Amino acid sequence: METKFIDLTNIKGQQRVVEEKVQMAADIICRGGLLAIPTETVYGLGANALDPDAVRRIFEAKGRPQDNPLIIHVPSAQWLPRFCEDVPPLAYTLARNFWPGPLTMILKRKPVVPDATTAGLDTVGVRCPAHPVTLAIIRYAGVPIAAPSANTSGRPSCTTAADVAEDMSGRIDGIVDGGPCTVGVESTIVDLTVTPPRLLRPGGLPLEDLQRVLGEFEVDRAVTAPLKDGEQPKAPGMKYRHYAPKAPVTVFTGNPRRTAQAMAQQLGEGTGVICFDEFASLFQGHETHLLGPAADKEIQAQRVFDALRTFDGSGVTEILAQCPDNRGLGLAIGNRLKKAAGFHVVDVEDENIVLGITGGTGAGKTSALRAIEDLGGLTLDCDAVYYELLNADPALRSAIAGAFGAEVFEANGTLNRKALGEMVFGNADRLDQLNDIVFRFLRPELERRIAAFPGKLCALDAINLFESGIDKLCDCTVAVTSPVELRVRRIMERDGIDEKYARLRISAQQQDDYFREKCDRELSNTAQTPREFRETAREFFARLIEQIKEDKANGRK
Ligand code: TXA
Ligand code: MG
Repeated sequence: METKFIDLTNIKGQQRVVEEKVQMAADIICRGGLLAIPTETVYGLGANALDPDAVRRIFEAKGRPQDNPLIIHVPSAQWLPRFCEDVPPLAYTLARNFWPGPLTMILKRKPVVPDATTAGLDTVGVRCPAHPVTLAIIRYAGVPIAAPSANTSGRPSCTTAADVAEDMSGRIDGIVDGGPCTVGVESTIVDLTVTPPRLLRPGGLPLEDLQRVLGEFEVDRAVTAPLKDGEQPKAPGMKYRHYAPKAPVTVFTGNPRRTAQAMAQQLGEGTGVICFDEFASLFQGHETHLLGPAADKEIQAQRVFDALRTFDGSGVTEILAQCPDNRGLGLAIGNRLKKAAGFHVVDVEDENIVLGITGGTGAGKTSALRAIEDLGGLTLDCDAVYYELLNADPALRSAIAGAFGAEVFEANGTLNRKALGEMVFGNADRLDQLNDIVFRFLRPELERRIAAFPGKLCALDAINLFESGIDKLCDCTVAVTSPVELRVRRIMERDGIDEKYARLRISAQQQDDYFREKCDRELSNTAQTPREFRETAREFFARLIEQIKEDKANGRK
């Protein structure tokens, strides 16, 4: 069969030519032929959705399993009642918000839609694509176009007419070239025949946008995980190995800087790489396809299939791919990469967030630490850990004895803090010397405890956070500050001391300005009760953690 190539790119100002070509394309559909059509998501392999014979030929040309239903393409929501039963108001609301666009709705079908199209299901997927050429072709043809993605079954989808030609030349009647697809990943599919609605496939319409209109909904398990043996996904197509290049793929998720490093360590002779632009230099000498900048998911969506497809022409024996996070289009991009990998995913984001918390007496450090625990975090009192080590670690004791003399230890072996304090007090060099020793022993112990903690959030509580060097272990340091008058009142109550002594204790320490200047963040406590402050602190830390995660994801520290 000769495949007619219908070029509808660069069509500005050529009204008559365009009309002729659109008509020619529509004729192929009306005659029961197969026509590849451009959409904003990926190219589709179209036929008259109401003609079972034409639809059957789609399955043949693609080599598509018979039990995998097709979606139908319509030019507007006005067509819905012609092909769907009991269309819920929500469908019109979604159409108003997102059509034409990358959203497919599963609705109850009417009998006019043949079994061949829906693979015998009593539901049908409907979408109004945002491509002027294809909308015009459907209107001309006067019938909905059934179209799966135009790739050979199992291969990555096609985002250019050239990709389609590669897979379908000689097997279909025509290919309409409408330029490269602007979105690049297939439509988001949501099933409106169940309550609450269910996301069957993440796609070009970000979940966050859908959620704003949809409210409550569920996410099908097949979206995020491989199916267990015998498990049936709601979208039959989700069960097939998909988008797969010939070489096996491994996907790396997590902070881009760290995934790039992890991938660089695993390079072998025939390894090919899909990575963000920023990290290309790590993979010199290896076939590399760039996904786009780490922070630009629109470009990544446009390029993901191209990256996967082009490896098929090369001799690579394995492919390592960097994956964006799940927000926005990232969910769909990651889903396609993970499906291409058969869900072979290496998660390098096993990283803790470590906060350093400091501040003077009475400022509210304890309540702040309780707030960290409220958030599921681990808090480590560095002073207490140091004293535990002093008892438990002879090497630390002998390092201190070596530097300051055996006389800083009592006969029973306990450290004479006062004696040691007098030696270092007012002597910056001696103090540095002590801090160096303490940090040398404290650091591995703190790191060990952080690593052993199954959660992700840890806070190191140290009044001498910077002098001790412990700040170097932290992603972010936080100063807990509070007006002196409030602190005086608090420690009088807390410790049952008089005002004069309370003021003396405060003035013996570093003041708020010092902590403010040294720390990355300030958490100010003007609350009347510890409980009130604990709540403020919880919100503060929750926000801070989100931000640190985001910074890490964007490769900033
Ligand atoms: O962006 C897109 O949706 C592209 C362009 C061409 O419009 N089309 C596309 O079609 O991706 P296809 O066939 O490659 O993927 C459609 C998916 C399949 O996984 C199929 O199983 C599922 O939609 N599907 C179709 N009808 C369904 C139904 N009635 N119920 C549940 N899932 C359905
Ligand atoms: Mg497909």
